[in-house]
Amino acid sequence: MNVVMIGSGYVGLVSGACFAEFGANVVCVDKDESKINALLNGQIPIYEPGLDDLVERNNKAGRLNFSTELKQSVETADLVFIAVGTPTRRGDGHADLQYVYAAAEEVAGYLNGYTVIVDKSTVPVGTARQVERIIKKANASADFDVASNPEFLREGSAIGDFMRPDRVVLGVESERAEALLRELYRPLNLIEAPIHVTNLESAELIKYASNAFLATKISFINEISQLCEKVGADVHSVAKGMGLDGRIGKKFLHAGPGYGGSCFPKDTLALVRIAQEHGSSSRIVETVIEVNAAQKARMVQKIRDALGGSEHDKKIAVLGLTFKPETDDMRDSPSLSILPALADKGAIIKAHDPEGVEEAKKILPESVEYIDDIYSAVEGTDALVILTEWNQYRGLDLDKIKELMSGNKFIDLRNIYERDMIESKGFEYTCVGR
Ligand SMILES: NC(=O)c1ccc[n+]([C@@H]2O[C@H](COP(=O)([O-])OP(=O)(O)OC[C@H]3O[C@@H](n4cnc5c(N)ncnc54)[C@H](O)[C@@H]3O)[C@@H](O)[C@H]2O)c1
Repeated sequence: MNVVMIGSGYVGLVSGACFAEFGANVVCVDKDESKINALLNGQIPIYEPGLDDLVERNNKAGRLNFSTELKQSVETADLVFIAVGTPTRRGDGHADLQYVYAAAEEVAGYLNGYTVIVDKSTVPVGTARQVERIIKKANASADFDVASNPEFLREGSAIGDFMRPDRVVLGVESERAEALLRELYRPLNLIEAPIHVTNLESAELIKYASNAFLATKISFINEISQLCEKVGADVHSVAKGMGLDGRIGKKFLHAGPGYGGSCFPKDTLALVRIAQEHGSSSRIVETVIEVNAAQKARMVQKIRDALGGSEHDKKIAVLGLTFKPETDDMRDSPSLSILPALADKGAIIKAHDPEGVEEAKKILPESVEYIDDIYSAVEGTDALVILTEWNQYRGLDLDKIKELMSGNKFIDLRNIYERDMIESKGFEYTCVGR
């Protein structure tokens, strides 16, 4: 089976490499020449655990190739996946579909024989039908179907998620397209991964509704964490007690600095816009977005309070910049609102992150200093802030840190430490909802 993946970012590259591992012949295409050149030279442009081995193995086996050109690979393709970015459109919160539509238009001209064009990008309801119209207009004689196959992988565990998904969603409206997609995903039958087949609109909405629901769980527990602080409850214990109820489930009930990343912020905004466009209400998701913004602002206030009411001229070591561990993705990370707010008020920030620094340097305030070593980062600081729960931060040498710091404020915005233990080392401990 010949597969083309248009867009070789976090989703395209992982999906392409995994389809190759399933046995398909895959060409990952990208407009970004530097990305393709890096891949052709055996370098992986993003940090994703295990991706280097997977890419190398399938590339060596001849099943995975890279190109900036669509023509040749599309001509012989059975399936062409569109996995380009759908960022928030500036000004109105809607998903920006310019990359999806440009890819569709480009593909149209090269179609040769029956081909299925599959939207893997997260796209608003109605996009697959629009892709169909674009292709028909550009190439009236093309023999094709359009399908929707939203992706649910999580950065940091993307390969495992792709290889052992909770479900695969296929939005298809022709038996031929369904058969080809089922054939591509056939290796998952071995592990009995559910394949949920539905129409185009439902598939598109499943992705947004799922992300909005997960964001809702996070905002819910974040709001409860504030109440916990006021009434003397422990959010960790409350979440555990809730999560033991099978109807609720324990996942995504960790209080923290607010959700971020390349999906939840943009997808919740887009869902609100989709609902508005169709005259439908989306009050829950609108509130989730507000609660998340408030949670990030609350973290700034927490740090300020811990520092005695002002961060001016205070030295702060920030551990963790990416929106979650095991990725270098900085898109919409809580650090992007928390650090500028602190820097704005005169805080002196030294930051550490195992993988995100290169990207962070492009978008965080220039005054932020980046330090390679955790212990050098905390040296002489008034406060230490844990913003991302990288494993490296879970077993810190607390005695050494206490000795190196000038102050004693330990601000754990991921609740990875226990208050008693931190306080026994002479720190003043601040966390979320405990
Ligand atoms: N990142 C995630 O965890 C994740 C998870 C599930 C779904 N998604 C969705 O998948 C889509 C892609 O996300 P991503 O994080 O991989 O984005 P990304 O920005 O990492 O990658 C997109 C790639 O597409 C390329 N591109 C854009 N237009 C192109 C064109 N016409 N031809 C060839 N290449 C082109 C870009 O150069 C870029 O490399 C988005 O819709 C996103 O919402 C992302």
